[in-house]
This record gives sequence, C-alpha cells and structure tokens, in this order.
Amino acid sequence: MTLDFLGTLERTHMCGDLRSSDAKDLGSGETVTLMGWVNRRRDHGNLIFLDLRDRTGITQVVFDKEVSPEAHARAEAARPEYVVAATGRVRVRGEGLANPNMPTGEVEVVAQQLLLLNEAKTPPFPIADDVAITNEEIRLKYRYLDLRRPELQRNFELRHKVTRAIRDFLSDNHFLEIETPLLTRSTPEGARDYLVPSRVHPGHFYALPQSPQIFKQLLMISGFDRYFQIARCFRDEDLRADRQPDFTQIDLETTFPKQETIFRIVEGFLRAAFHAGGIELPAHPFVQMTYDDAIRKYGIDKPDMRLPAMVDLGATLTPELRETLKIDPALPVYGFTIPRVGELSGTQRKALVGEIRGSFGDTGLDFLDVARLRTNAAFVPLAEAIAAKLTAEQLVFNGENFTTDDLAIVITPKPGTPALWNYDPHWIPKRVGQLRLDLAKKYADKHKLFEPTKTAADFRFLWVTDFPMYEWNEEAKRWDAAHHPFTSPHEDDITTGRLTSDKGAVRALAYDIVLNGTELGSGSIRIHRQDVQAEIFRSLGMSDAEAKERFGFFLDALEYGTPPHGGIALGLDRIVMILAGATSLREVIAFPKTAKAIDLMVDAPTPVGEQQMRELSLKTVTRS
Ligand code: AMO
Repeated sequence: MTLDFLGTLERTHMCGDLRSSDAKDLGSGETVTLMGWVNRRRDHGNLIFLDLRDRTGITQVVFDKEVSPEAHARAEAARPEYVVAATGRVRVRGEGLANPNMPTGEVEVVAQQLLLLNEAKTPPFPIADDVAITNEEIRLKYRYLDLRRPELQRNFELRHKVTRAIRDFLSDNHFLEIETPLLTRSTPEGARDYLVPSRVHPGHFYALPQSPQIFKQLLMISGFDRYFQIARCFRDEDLRADRQPDFTQIDLETTFPKQETIFRIVEGFLRAAFHAGGIELPAHPFVQMTYDDAIRKYGIDKPDMRLPAMVDLGATLTPELRETLKIDPALPVYGFTIPRVGELSGTQRKALVGEIRGSFGDTGLDFLDVARLRTNAAFVPLAEAIAAKLTAEQLVFNGENFTTDDLAIVITPKPGTPALWNYDPHWIPKRVGQLRLDLAKKYADKHKLFEPTKTAADFRFLWVTDFPMYEWNEEAKRWDAAHHPFTSPHEDDITTGRLTSDKGAVRALAYDIVLNGTELGSGSIRIHRQDVQAEIFRSLGMSDAEAKERFGFFLDALEYGTPPHGGIALGLDRIVMILAGATSLREVIAFPKTAKAIDLMVDAPTPVGEQQMRELSLKTVTRS
C-alpha cells in the first residue's frame, strides 16, 4: 500500500464539529475535509464505515463504492489508528440511524476522497472503546497511545481549563507570576532531595526544589507584594496514588496577610477552578476546624467530612459503669457509625469483630476493645455492660446521618491502659479514626459511600487550622518542624517563652485545605523577624553555625526590612484528580512515574556512560 502526502489539502472541520445544520444538498458540491485517526472500521461490502477521531470527537464517514470506487478501495486498506484525511459531503443520517450518544450522531460524511497519511501497528490495547485498561504497566510503556484514549484526553483538557482559571483568578487579584530556579539548594519540606551534580564544581550538587518556599519569601522581601507560580516540585519520597516524585504546585505568597486573607484567595481560585470543571461551589467561606478538634472528632488531620464524626461517649458512662469496666475516667470511649451498611449476618459480624480486634492486635495495641456493634437494632454485646446502659438514642452520634441501617461501633480502652496514653493524648482518637477509615473503605464500594463526585454537595472542603508547631521525632529523639521551619508560632507562644519551655503545646499559624479526606494544600503565616527565625532554628536543635551554613543567606535577608507575610501551596495534580473523578495522579499527569519512581516509557532513571561520569567527577559505589 502506498501512503499519500497531504499536498495542499486543508482541514475544514474538527471531528467533533459537524451537526445537521452542516448538511448540504447533493447538488451543492460543497465538501468538508476531516483529518484524524481511524477509530473503528466496519466493512459492509459496497459500503465501508470509518469513524474518524481527533481530540474533539468522532465523525462517521461512509465510503460508497458507487460514489467513489477509489476512496472505497483506500478505505478497504485502512485499519484502526491509521491517520487519514477524508473529503466529502455532509448528510443527515437516514431514518432511525442517528446515534444519540454522539454529538455528531445526526450526520455522516459521504466520502469522495480518502488520503492514507500514515499506517499504524495494532495498538497493545484498545483505544476506541472508552474503557478502563487494567494493565498499568502497558499503559505507561505506551503512554502516547494511552493518552489518545478519550478519557485521558478529557482529563488533560480539564487540567488545562483548571490551570487557566486559577492563573486568571490570581492575575486578576494582583498576583504576579514569577519563576524561581530549578537548579538550587535544598528546601526543607520533609522529603529527600533529588540532586544534580555540578560539572564545573566537582563534588558539588544542586538540589531540585521540593517547593519554591524560600524564594517566594525572598520575593516578599523584594517587595513584589503578591506572587504566584504554577511550580514544578521534586521530592524523593515513598510514592502513593496521590504522590508523584515530580509534581505541580499552585504556589502563592502575599505580604501583610491574615489567615483569612489567604483563605479567601484560595476559596476564590478553587471556585474558579471548579467552575471550569463544571461545578458551581457555593459562595460562602469553607468550614474551619482546629487541628485538635479534627483529631478529637475524626482522628486525623484531614477529615473526610462525607462521613459522620466520631463521638466521645465518655460523658454518658456513669461512674459505676466505668468502675465495672475499669475504664480510666480520663480516657475517651469512642463511637462512630459507617452509613448504610445494613444488616450483617452472624458470621459477618463475627468476622468483623475478629478483623477489628486483629487490626488493633497487629500494632500491638490490644488495649482497645470493640464494645458493641449494632446493625438494624441487632446487637452484638461484646461488652455487655455498655450495651445494657447505652440507649439507642445515645448512639445517634451525629444526628443527621444515622439510621438503623448504619453500622455503629463503640471502642473502649481495655482495663489497665498502658502509659502510652499519657504520652500522646491523640493516640486513641487517631487509632480509632484509622479504623473508621478502614471500615469506610471496606464498605465503600458495596454501599456506595463515596459516589463519584458530580455535584457541588459532593465536595466537602475544610480548613484545618492551628497545627502543632513541632512534631516529636522518636527515631532521631528530637523535635522537628511540623510544617516547615519558616512557619510562625502564635504571637503569645513567642512572648511567653513556650517555644523552649513546652514545645508540644506550641501552636503554629499553619493551615491545611482538605477536600474529602485529601490534603489539597498547606500553608502558613511566616516568621518575618530574624531573631525569631534564629530562635526557631535553635529550638529545632540546629546550632547557630549550622543554621548559618544552611540558611545564612535567608537569615541575612530577614534583616533588611522583611514585611509580615504568608502563603500556601496547593497540589494542582490533586485538584484535577478529584475533579476528574480519578483515584490516582497518574490519570492527570501526562507522563507519570510508577510507584517505584520509574518512567516506563523513556526508561528513566538509567546508568550514564563512563565519559559523562568522569566529566561529573562521579563514581558509582555498589552497596551490599
Ligand atoms: P507541602 O509540602 O504541604 O507544603 O505541599 C503542598 C501541597 O503540594 C502537594 N504535594 C504533592 N502532590 C503530589 N505529589 C507529591 N509528592 C506531593 N507533595 C506535596 C499536596 C500538598 O498539600 N512550601 C509549602 C507550602 C507553603 O507553606 O506555602 C509546601 O510545599 O497537595
């Protein structure tokens, strides 16, 4: 088969354009030219149908031997994914032949000419059917074909629209888009750095930025007032469905903000982004909750507000009951519900109890116990005494969502709770919160707990505020910055000296924006005084000499009239993932990496040649 050249032929329409109003009389002689890929080919002898596809959609093209024997012969040779140009007349499809599922379904093009511009091997997976392909390795290896699938084409159109809406919103609100370097030095965001060796300075390395954090603060010192960047960031960390080694942040910073200033800006651009995705979020500010409340009520710092909160039923226990059960009055008794689980059989209940106990047991945390499960008013009295005392009304934990179809679970600390409790008061709610999420996941599919997000009500945003300033690092036996070391504590933590006397109690002016249990973004009001910044470095166990070595330039800059400032960064990939109804960032990043940080298509990372290693003064050492 010989291939054709395009010559002077020009495309007149995209494959998603044509409607019945474009149909022309037989005698008019007016034609259209479409160019694209053969999506499907159906051969009915004298009639051949090619569905032509491009980014905008699909049009059916008919090759009738009577109309053009030559075009018909070329259509016979065409196969799926061949690249073709078809010229012909638009006509309305015959009675009963319209396809209501396609925007172009009322018409077809009767071809007079077909150019075969390129052939294609049979793809390793079907592209025409808009169905999920489960073999992810093959998808990633042939990513350019995977990206041809309509589902992914839609995701990237969405990503473009969302990015543009955010860019427009921020530009309209006086933010300047400024680029910061990719070859730089380490920014402390808690992950490992990707390093780039310097050829001209043997043994020296640049770090790729984990975020533009320090640069954006320097831009505030430089007086730019409001900065933003759609910023590529790099982090060498354990990957998950919502983490890629190389990802994109919507990063912003402003001078003289209150927390609420940042909140309104983010709510504004999220509204614009969701509007671009076809979702109209309500105009009111998002709900806010302190970190302590989030842990107490949800056992996690990124609560999924689509599920009812946990409730501490402790107050409903009489002192006698506590005595009988030997529950320390200081300890909580948590109850929570999983909606719509319905009746469980005896065997299912037994298995569930075993599973819950097992899950506590695994972590060596066997002092918690399931007190009672209730489904459809059927009780499994695991702790008879509680079951007898608590009325059904007391189990209406959260009012709104509770029905007799819900699974209700009560967790009591076992008698003689270990001292661990005294150490971290958040430990029990966190553990119970984890169980709550695990059970929600277990029942999610069957009971449709999390419908694919379609309307504004399905998106439950939340601001979590007042994060702890420090986090105890048990391994290294030291306090780390919970957000990053540039975050400001509350003013009274500075004036009262709590920074040194009671680190665990210090609260930061740090906040997260959370959507349906996913952390979308994090930010804070920053430290703008050099003396406070130096004090924070010291309180993190960094000597003045070390602070000077790592951040000397920044400490210097703080001494030249630094305005109060603050900001935030949101994961663009995560926003688009949720809007697209996807469950992995790989669906919204064009060329993503696997969980092992490999690009299967280009095959990266790879060893480099000896010559290059020599130029970079590098040697590989194999570690056993
Ligand atoms: P943080 O480290 O919390 O804050 O990051 C902000 C947001 O970036 C996204 N994100 C990621 N997305 C995909 N893959 C990853 N590996 C990944 N890591 C982070 C998340 C996260 O909420 N400089 C601060 C922000 C600030 O204080 O202004 C920072 O980077 O959505």
